[in-house]
Amino acid sequence: MLTLNIERESRRTLQRLLPRLENELSDFVSADPQGWHEFIERLHRYFPSLFRLYFEIYDIRYDFFFHLEDLLLSLARAWFSRPDDLRMLDKAREKNPHWFQSNQMLGGVCYVDLFATNIDGIKSRIPYFKELGLTYLHLMPLFKAPDGENDGGYAVSSYREVHPPLGTVQQLAELARELRNAGISLVVDLVFNHTADEHTWAKHAKAGDAEYVDFYRIFPSREMPDAYEQTLREIFPDEHAGAFTFFADLFTTGGWVWTTFHSYQWDLNYANPAVFNRMADEMLFLANQGVEVIRLDAVAFIWKEMGTNCENLPGAHTLIQAFNAVARIAAPALLFKSEAIVHPDDVVKYIDPDECQLSYNPLLMALLWNSLATREVKLLAQALAARFKIHPQSAWVNYVRVHDDIGWTFSDEDAAQFGINGSDHRRFLNEFYRGRFEGSFARGLPFQENPKTGDCRISGTCASLAGLEKALREEGPHEVELAMRRILLIHAVSLTVGGIPLIYLGDELGTLNDYTFRDDPAHERDSRWVHRPRADWEKYEKRNDPSSIEGQVYQGLQKLIALRKEHDAFSGGDLEIISIENEHILGFVRSHAGKRAVIFANFSENSQTIPARIFEQYSIHGKKILHGVSKVPTRADAIIEPLDFLVFGV
Ligand code: GLC
Ligand code: GLC
Repeated sequence: MLTLNIERESRRTLQRLLPRLENELSDFVSADPQGWHEFIERLHRYFPSLFRLYFEIYDIRYDFFFHLEDLLLSLARAWFSRPDDLRMLDKAREKNPHWFQSNQMLGGVCYVDLFATNIDGIKSRIPYFKELGLTYLHLMPLFKAPDGENDGGYAVSSYREVHPPLGTVQQLAELARELRNAGISLVVDLVFNHTADEHTWAKHAKAGDAEYVDFYRIFPSREMPDAYEQTLREIFPDEHAGAFTFFADLFTTGGWVWTTFHSYQWDLNYANPAVFNRMADEMLFLANQGVEVIRLDAVAFIWKEMGTNCENLPGAHTLIQAFNAVARIAAPALLFKSEAIVHPDDVVKYIDPDECQLSYNPLLMALLWNSLATREVKLLAQALAARFKIHPQSAWVNYVRVHDDIGWTFSDEDAAQFGINGSDHRRFLNEFYRGRFEGSFARGLPFQENPKTGDCRISGTCASLAGLEKALREEGPHEVELAMRRILLIHAVSLTVGGIPLIYLGDELGTLNDYTFRDDPAHERDSRWVHRPRADWEKYEKRNDPSSIEGQVYQGLQKLIALRKEHDAFSGGDLEIISIENEHILGFVRSHAGKRAVIFANFSENSQTIPARIFEQYSIHGKKILHGVSKVPTRADAIIEPLDFLVFGV
């Protein structure tokens, strides 16, 4: 085995490649010498990492040098077509890499069609986004997708075309620019684990073109699929058993295609460097339309190896880091957000300035719901104390709901420390949120129930899961009040705990479940559509009417958003958990640049006591209450109101 000095080899390789690039791209170089100069500068800085990572994955390829040259040509071409305003943004972001740590950051996410019909509709909602305070807008998949079932756009037929009813790529680029002028960064998905079976690559593969057959993982017989399936988890067991789908029209006798999710979502084969290179092209194309953050969809699944569960493998990290190096060279403003809804030990492995600077925080989300159901904060406090800290140049994206189901991704080992059995507890949570546990306030639906294992996950809007649906339809004003407090309480934690809070648009009004998906053949089999309703603009009109539910939720949320934005203590990710003898109260301190805030969140529907000594210990007495309805006496224990969120500036 020969050992290489990677650093030296990377320099040698670049020396060999540069003249070839310059020659190949001479027209661009002479038209834009300054651009070429900047490109070379970044290449010198980041090529060593790119080379090392690419070599780590593709060293066994006899044609390594060919693919590497092809990749660099792609990067240079993408850079030459990068608009000037984005090149300026690149410089600004490089100077201020911490920009997303600010307490001014606030994210929102929505579907283009459901929220505003099309891209122009989204544009016309910019004043609303500004009113809400958004600085980050994630538009759910909007690229060309098959008609009918397409997993909410997560089956992409072309990464360079907008799904026709929504608009065009030109309109998307214009929208990105207008959002940026309004102080809002555009976020879109890069669905890079799979393509739709209607994507040209898949069509060529179906036609037997060997070049493209190699883009996917296609097998002529069951032999390999059977071997892989020994160790794979089923992701969408409702849809198809195992991870492969048989297509009779492949080869002459049919073939088995790796389809982790739906049968029409074909997993790409990243063992083939051509797949990496072509996906890098697609990524940079999006970046050049003005997309500032790419949500890397289903990151856990992109690398596969026989004998493993093919999730979270080291190869997946190497690939993402290589994509990161690509971005640093050709679109430096671009950030990655990882979508790894997996065990907390694995979630954090994707987070790093050199991998994904941002990550969903599925653990916080799941444990907020857990705390509402159990009225206890021990798992939440433990997770925040032990698992919240991440690299200082990265940030969590905190959320309470998104378009997907809720999976109970806490760690069994953590739960065991409190004598909680993980699988029993998940069963309880599923029963609770399906509304089947006695006394449950929730109205959720099961998602992907697996009869073999008894597992399931939960669908439902924030408001319906927090009790508003049941309270409005079956109970009375007291329960309605409690449900609204629950909605605000979990949003309050998400807004203040550290990181970028992300609001699933519709939740700011207390939107309830929408059961009409059952009448739609393209959606009826997927309960996640219960929490993907069309925005009701008549309800939005009521957002400033304090006598309406919409108004109360909206105004409550606005207060919390203002709290976040007015106090620098909520910047960054510094967090200290306060240990309180009361199991219902989460206490934490946030500090940033010399500013501090102390927070108490009561997860119980009853008043709770905080001992006076805590107030002394944290020097709270006499300090300003920034949020909350509880009264705090001097020198005596404090009573915190049901589901109150009490904040002191200290
Ligand atoms: C991600 C999406 C989910 C989709 C899956 C397959 O997990 O969030 O909605 O079903 O990827 O693309
Ligand atoms: C699985 C995947 C996750 C995805 C979800 C979609 O849980 O692990 O990435 O979001 O399915 O429902």
